[in-house]
Amino acid sequence: MKVLVTGGAGYIGSHTVLELLNVGYEVVVIDNLCNSSIESLNRVEELTNKKVTFYQVDICDREKVREVLRIHSDIAATIHFAALKAVGESTQIPLKYYQNNVHGTVSLLEELQQAEIYNFVFSSSATVYGEEAPVPYVETLKTGVPSSAYGKSKLMIEQVLEDLVKSDTKFKVANLRYFNPIGAHESGQIGEDPNGIPNNLMPFVSQVAVGKREKLSIFGNDYPTKDGTCERDYLHVVDLAHGHVKALEWLEDQSAGICEAFNLGTGNPLSVLEIVNKFSQVTGTNIPYEYAPQREGDLPAFWADAEKAKTKLNWTADKSLEDMMRDTWNWQSNNPQGYK
Ligand code: NAD
Ligand code: WQD
Repeated sequence: MKVLVTGGAGYIGSHTVLELLNVGYEVVVIDNLCNSSIESLNRVEELTNKKVTFYQVDICDREKVREVLRIHSDIAATIHFAALKAVGESTQIPLKYYQNNVHGTVSLLEELQQAEIYNFVFSSSATVYGEEAPVPYVETLKTGVPSSAYGKSKLMIEQVLEDLVKSDTKFKVANLRYFNPIGAHESGQIGEDPNGIPNNLMPFVSQVAVGKREKLSIFGNDYPTKDGTCERDYLHVVDLAHGHVKALEWLEDQSAGICEAFNLGTGNPLSVLEIVNKFSQVTGTNIPYEYAPQREGDLPAFWADAEKAKTKLNWTADKSLEDMMRDTWNWQSNNPQGYK
């Protein structure tokens, strides 16, 4: 079976392409490489000994997307990763996020509808639960109001997909709400390669460990949590990649007209300090840190109720925290400059 993967050269996309190839899917990637390198897919090909068909195409470019779908008229499903994801930047330049993420997705969906490709897996986010939801987040909760334009773009796309499925019941949609993916493939050949100063915790920690950054700022130690630092649900990116394979299989078995959300997380909250200490312990590195003020928009603690994905998708996040730390370090120390 052939799958279209948008944003497949990125962090989660490249790990998912690898898993798809490993279980026998054919993969067509479209990515404009605005936040990634083609080297990730070269390495996926080396690791799997299989070919990835790649097009450097923007999802907003209808003509080119249509051409790819025309050439590969046997594509049976889409996994849609392509998006901008920098939360802070989205607050400064919201239109860029609505244009790329929301408009780009609508444009892509119109082309998929024309091409009669109806199975669709969407990269959503825990942020769609908003700022008021009780923890753990469970899919039966109503979505809330995300604090950033990035988060709102994810919620808007979920709403677009819901309306689309109601109006065209040939569509089948899985909205996968990721919690905090970290780690890298165990080979150390593919991993997260952020541009410039990392916004997210794990790449920052590993760049401190490798000597690229002097010290970590921990944003807030006065939260109402076990040690005062924020708590999140960190999951291994390879587990997350498996979740996409499970979602594709689940869609195959559904009747048309379905649109469902699934949390992909472990169900276990961990604090920033627990992450830093575990990283040091597993890798034998020292992570100098200081406490800094809370970061605007951060919530004290949230994690997944992971039961629905377990029951319906037959998926759980199996890798340990030790695996997440070891694999992050393996990637970072083997590739101190990322893919460059
Ligand atoms: P990433 O930036 O590594 O990957 C996104 C990919 O999409 C990149 O390769 C980028 O070049 C591509 N892209 C962006 N806009 C495009 C466009 N208009 N046309 C074609 N390609 C385009 O990010 P990631 O961490 O792998 O995230 C993948 C998806 O998962 C995103 O939709 C993101 O919002 C979502 N998500 C990520 C996280 C996380 O913590 N990483 C959490 C929740 C949801
Ligand atoms: C984790 C914790 C920080 C950096 C974001 C998006 C979310 C999703 C995942 C895409 C927080 C603390 C961080 C640092 C720190 N993204 N931290 N020092 O904020 O939970 O989620 O990424 O879809 O939508 O909001 O992840 O990795 O940025 O932060 O102390 O230098 O680490 O305060 O508590 P977050 P993160």
